[in-house]
Parts: sequence; C-alpha cells; structure tokens
Amino acid sequence: MASSFFGPIKRIDLARDEASHSLRPSLSWPHLIALGVGAIVGTGIYTLTGVGAERAGPAVILAFAVAGAVCACAALAYAELATLIPTAGSAYTYTYSVIGERLAWIVGWSLILEYSLACSTVAVGWGGYLVGWVQSAGITLPHELLAGPHGGGIVNLPAVIVSLLVAGMLMAGTRESATLNIVLVVIKLVALSVFVLFAAPAFQSANLHPFMPYGFGSHVEGGGTKGVMAAAAIVFFAFYGFDAVATSAEEAKNPGRDLTIGIVGSMAVCTLIYMAVCFAAIGSMHYTQLANSPEPLALVLRTLNHPLASHLVALAALIALPSVILVMMYGQSRVFFVMSRDGLLPPLLARVSKRTGTPVITTGLTGVFVAAVAGFFRLDEIAELANAGTLMAFIAVGLCVMILRKKRPDLVRIFKCPFPYVVGTLTVLGCLYLMISLPVMTLVRFVLWNAIGLAFYLVYGRSRSIAGNSASSNGSIN
Ligand code: ALA
Repeated sequence: MASSFFGPIKRIDLARDEASHSLRPSLSWPHLIALGVGAIVGTGIYTLTGVGAERAGPAVILAFAVAGAVCACAALAYAELATLIPTAGSAYTYTYSVIGERLAWIVGWSLILEYSLACSTVAVGWGGYLVGWVQSAGITLPHELLAGPHGGGIVNLPAVIVSLLVAGMLMAGTRESATLNIVLVVIKLVALSVFVLFAAPAFQSANLHPFMPYGFGSHVEGGGTKGVMAAAAIVFFAFYGFDAVATSAEEAKNPGRDLTIGIVGSMAVCTLIYMAVCFAAIGSMHYTQLANSPEPLALVLRTLNHPLASHLVALAALIALPSVILVMMYGQSRVFFVMSRDGLLPPLLARVSKRTGTPVITTGLTGVFVAAVAGFFRLDEIAELANAGTLMAFIAVGLCVMILRKKRPDLVRIFKCPFPYVVGTLTVLGCLYLMISLPVMTLVRFVLWNAIGLAFYLVYGRSRSIAGNSASSNGSIN
C-alpha cells in the first residue's frame, strides 16, 4: 500500500483510465468561458462589493485585482490537475492521490465550507436583492422574517426558501443545461453592463479620494477588519466557481488550448467586469453609502434616480443567482459522495436514488445545512468562512501541482500549467496571505471546524478508509 507521512495514498490509475475518454469532447473555448463566467459571477460582485468598500474604501477596486490575480494562479494549477486526474472530488481527490489521506481529509472537510457556505452566502445575497426589490415596489415585509437574530430579526426566510428550493430541484435530478447557462450568463452580463452604463456618468473623482483610507494590510480598526487585504480576503469569494471549467477538462475539444483560454479567459473577463462595476459604483457614490448594503448595485442606481435600471439589475440577480447555488450544491454533493465512497464518511452519503440518479440524502442534508446557516447568520461571516475553506483547497492544489511535477515528470499532461513552480508558489503564498488577512474570529472558527473534522476522522474514517485498508493500492502514481 502506498503511503506517506500524510497517511495512505489513494490509487488513482484505475480511476484515471476509467475517466479518460468517457465523456464526448464537445466543448470549445467559448463554451468554457461561458461555463466559468456562469459559475463565477454571483453574490461576490452583486453584494460583497459593499462589504469590500467598507473595509478598503475606494481601494476595493485594488482588492478585486489582488484576489483575481491569486485566483488566476490557482485556476491554472487546478487545470493541470483536473486534466491529469479527471475524477470527481476536485482538490480533495488531487490531495489524496498526491500527498496523502490526512491532508486530503482536511481539504475535503474544508471543501464542505467552500461549497455549502458559498451556497448560504449566495442565498443571503439573493434574499437581500429580493427584499430590496419588493420593498422598492412599495410593499413592506415583516423585518422579523427577513433577517437572523444578528440583524434584529428571527430568520432570513427568503434565504432559507431559495436554499431549500434549489436543493429540491437538485434532488429531483435538475442539472443546468449548457443553453440555460448561456442565457443566465447573458442576463448577468447585460445587467452588470446596464449598471456600469447608468452609474458611470455620475462618476466624481472626489469619491475616489482618499483612495486607500485604511491602508493596505489587514488590521483591526474601529471594531472591524480594515485594509485592502481585508477586503481582498472577502471579495475573493467573487472569483471561485472556476473549478467548473477545470473539471470539464475531459469534455474540452482541444484541452491544451481551450482550457487555457477558458480558464484564463473567464478569469480575465470576470476581473475586468468586476473592476468596471467597482469603479462605477465607487466613483458614483461615496463608499460609506455602499458599505454593508444588502443590495449595493440596486442601491446605487436607485440613489442616482434610475429606478427602472435598478429594478432590472435586481431582477437579473434574482433570476441568475440561484444557478450559482445550484452549481455549488451540486459540487458539494459530489465531494460528500467521493469521501463516502472512499470510506471516510458514512456510506449513506454515497447512496444514489434509483429514480433520479442523484445523491438524494446527501443533497437533502446539504440543503438543510445551507438553509440553516443562511437563515441565521451574517453574510460577511458566512462568506469569510467559505473563503477560508476555499483557500485551504487552493493551497493544496498549488502544492499538488508542484509535487507531482517533481515526482512524476513522465506523466502525460494534457494541459500544462505554465511556469508550474512559479504559479504553484504564487498560489500557495497568495492564498496564505489572503488567509491571514481574514478576521481572527474566522480563523478561529476555521480551526475549530477542522478540529471537529479531525476528531471525526480519527474516530470514524481512519479505520474505515478503503485506501488505508486496501492491500492492492501499490499502483499509486507516487
Ligand atoms: N463566485 C461566486 C459568487 O460570487 C461564488 O457568487
């Protein structure tokens, strides 16, 4: 059995053989860019721009550039591994096959934060737009049902409802079609263009001064975490979802070329759009007015006296954001599925419904968890914890790409990450810098989460691990 300091190493040769060529290569780079933009654009730009502005002032624009650059490196590393190990489970599977079970467990456990809490974050963001939209039409809703206890209410009901609805759709076997994805991408992009078009003419350079009122590094000031890096650590949320492109590696017509264009392209498109939206928002209104608004883009347009445009942008968010929840929840069910198939989680979680072909129990449980978090917790706190989990996964991906290049230079790589050691190192260091820029409380929660996870692993998974118990795993690529 192959093993390392980090425990057993999963045998991946068989999975690679099974997975390769099992899907028809039908996607070229425009599809891949659409896939990336569809999964990436969501609450990050629609809502967290306000939170970022509160933390960095006008320099939230710079925060988006920093987070985008780190994510672009991570995306390239992801693409190499996705084409090399094209099996479900993404960062968890790569770590299991390259480093070992113990670190893979931490990555898998962290991915639960990424996928589930990203769903909760988008659900809360969606609720913010729904409430703003309904109330701007003159209808008053009871506050108790619109916010959790942190906001003076009882429960954020819209966020709970959208989480459960999407879980229900997934349980019924819904998967977003490529055509629907393109329609939603167009809706999102048109809405953001409308925003820029209407907000930009109100640009006043005075709104950009001082550009960096809280400096660059993340620090505590006035009871909150401030600075460009503090903002980057939260708007980082706006960029992930690109793993959707990396994991469709098998379906790319010309992976070497199309994946590079798809990943770098969707990253570049999103970074440019985000910076344009940020520039228009920050330039047209003083950043303090945007800070912590539950629907900052709609607020800007309403304040600038463009009610119709404001309605349309909010409507686009309402239509398109649930698809981001769908993609993320789907990703979550796959991670649970693979971890359970590996013996590290109870087999119940890998059970697939005969009727719909979907992991119904896993999806139902995920939906309830996502809804509970969305119903009772604060948007920024949820997003920060989701980011911590994602950063952990990206760090592992950066490490895996470098280790595998060193250990197995002979493996045929369909997509080669350019300058792998530079990109890998930048991914690891960039993610670490973003991680330590998160509020201390988030890091404490992240460590606690992983402590619970490790306890579960020691009690349950370690002794049941298929790789650990398998005598036939000598064929590992390590
Ligand atoms: N990047 C996705 C969003 O911003 C998760 O909603």
